[in-house]
Order: sequence, then C-alpha cells, then structure tokens
Amino acid sequence: MYEEFYGFKELPFNVTPDPKFLYRSSSHRDALAYITYGVFQKKGFIALTGEVGVGKTTIVNAFMDLFQPSIEVSFIFSTKFPFDQLLYLICNDFGLEVEGMNKAQMLIHLNKFLIEQYENKRNTVLIIDEAQNLSIQVLEELRMLSNLETRKRKLLQIMLVGQPELEIILNLRELRQLRQRIPLLFRIPVLTHDDLSKYIDYRLKIAGRGNRTPHFTSDSIEEIYHYSKGIPRLINVLCDRVLLVGYVSNVRTIDAGIVRGGVRDLENVTVQTVGEIDKNR
Ligand SMILES: Nc1ncnc2c1ncn2[C@@H]1O[C@H](COP(=O)(O)OP(=O)(O)OP(=O)(O)O)[C@@H](O)[C@H]1O
Ligand SMILES: [Mg+2]
Repeated sequence: MYEEFYGFKELPFNVTPDPKFLYRSSSHRDALAYITYGVFQKKGFIALTGEVGVGKTTIVNAFMDLFQPSIEVSFIFSTKFPFDQLLYLICNDFGLEVEGMNKAQMLIHLNKFLIEQYENKRNTVLIIDEAQNLSIQVLEELRMLSNLETRKRKLLQIMLVGQPELEIILNLRELRQLRQRIPLLFRIPVLTHDDLSKYIDYRLKIAGRGNRTPHFTSDSIEEIYHYSKGIPRLINVLCDRVLLVGYVSNVRTIDAGIVRGGVRDLENVTVQTVGEIDKNR
C-alpha cells in the first residue's frame, strides 16, 4: 500500500525467507560458509541453529540458490512425521518412484540413487528445517541414513536446521552417537547494533531505492534495536509498520517518534482495515 509513496518496486520488509534480500552480516556469511564447507567436504551431518526469526531458512534458501542445480537437494520442513513417512517424502523430493514400497524397499532405492549420484560426482543433500520438532527416534533413524557411504565418503549430507532447542535435543545422552557425528554446530547470532542500519539500508536498496526512499535517523535505529534485539523478523515486522505510520503521517524521515508509534501499533491489538487507515490520514 505504501510502496508508491516511498517509490518502492516491492515491499522492503516482508517476512518471507527470500534470499534476494539476504544482507550478508558477518554471522550470516559465516553460516553460509559453514554449511557450504560441510556439504562440499562431505561431513555427513551439519547442524545450523538460531533463535526464532534469526534467518535460518533464508540462509538455507540462499545456499540452494547458489548451488542448485549442481547439487541435488531434498528440502523437508514438515518434521512431525514418523520416519517411514519422512523417508517417503525424501525419496519423492529426489524424484524417486516409491509409491507402495515399504521402508526397506525405499532404503534400497535411495541407496541406489545415492550411489548413482556419487558416480556422477553430484552432491546429494537432505535439508531438514524445523528439526527441533524431530523425535529422538527419527533422529536415530537419520543417523542410520547417514551410514549410507562408500569406504571414503558419506553419500548423503544431512543438514539439520532448527531453533536452539535442537542443540539441547542433540546433547541428550540417547543421541550421543549422532552428536559425535556432528563435529561442528553453527548457531547464527542475532544482528549486532552496527549491522542494523546496514541491514535496513540493504533491504531498502533491494526494494528499489529512489528519491522518495525513507530516511531512518540514528535515533530511530536505536529504538528499532531496542525493540527487535537484532532479530531480523522482528526488525521487518516493526519496519513495515513504521513505514505505514510514516505514510499515514505523510513523512519520509523516520525518527524515534515514528518508530515508537509503530511499536505502539504493534502492541495494540486493535485491527484496522486499510480503509480505516486511509480515513484517518
Ligand atoms: N541476513 C538477513 N538479511 C535479510 N533478511 C533477513 C536476514 N536474516 C533474516 N532475514 C529476514 O528475517 C525474516 C525471518 O527469517 P527466517 O524465516 O529465515 O528466520 P528463521 O530463523 O528461519 O525463523 P524460524 O525459527 O521461525 O523458522 C525473513 O523475512 C528474512 O528475509
Ligand atoms: Mg525457518
């Protein structure tokens, strides 16, 4: 709605994990480097964790954008399934025809596929997002899956992506065999204060900066950091709201007062329709 007012081609602060908007903070760069290293060095297991909304799915999407189609990926994000169903989804994602097969048959099929991939020098990666929801039993079965290997190399790289609870689960005694196979776990930190204005700037640029682009004053950045604690999704939700407040007030300089207005709006549960907002202008 406010795109035209600020001259954007698209909304700068959407909450979708669109890798086009990825601002490469040093921690997001490190995370990308870590998973790239894990996959190409065939480490077997890779674990990427981070607070809710910190950018895990966005990083994984950026990774896929960078390397597909040269790598074969199965990306699973529904994690409350028993292992058989998960295996079915994985096989399906890899384009294998496994309808009506039992678990053993699916495993044989998958193994054959992985060997073919290996012979064709193609990397095969299974990414499981929201992995904090996996049961201990399913995690154990995934460990078995990673046993599919040649004498030298793991045939399948398994990337577990999840909230910090995943670290607690992986440290459970029952899962120590799995834990030992994850040499390195990477936790994405929240954005630093220094990163915040660069993050906002970057997203504004991607959305299409022009002469009507909003200007965020330094005190507005302080307020945004205070509210969001450096979590990108919270930054986006707040900035989106703040731009709406700016639009409604007909200003393009976003100062601390405008940000506080946005915070108040978010804390206020009353829902306004677009028509009502326009009426209030
Ligand atoms: N480095 C970044 N640059 C640009 N946008 C980012 C960055 N990190 C996160 N975001 C944005 O923050 C929002 C939340 O990111 P994302 O969905 O990847 O978080 P998540 O860690 O997967 O969250 P959840 O734990 O809920 O699954 C998205 O809109 C995403 O575009
Ligand atoms: Mg996510």
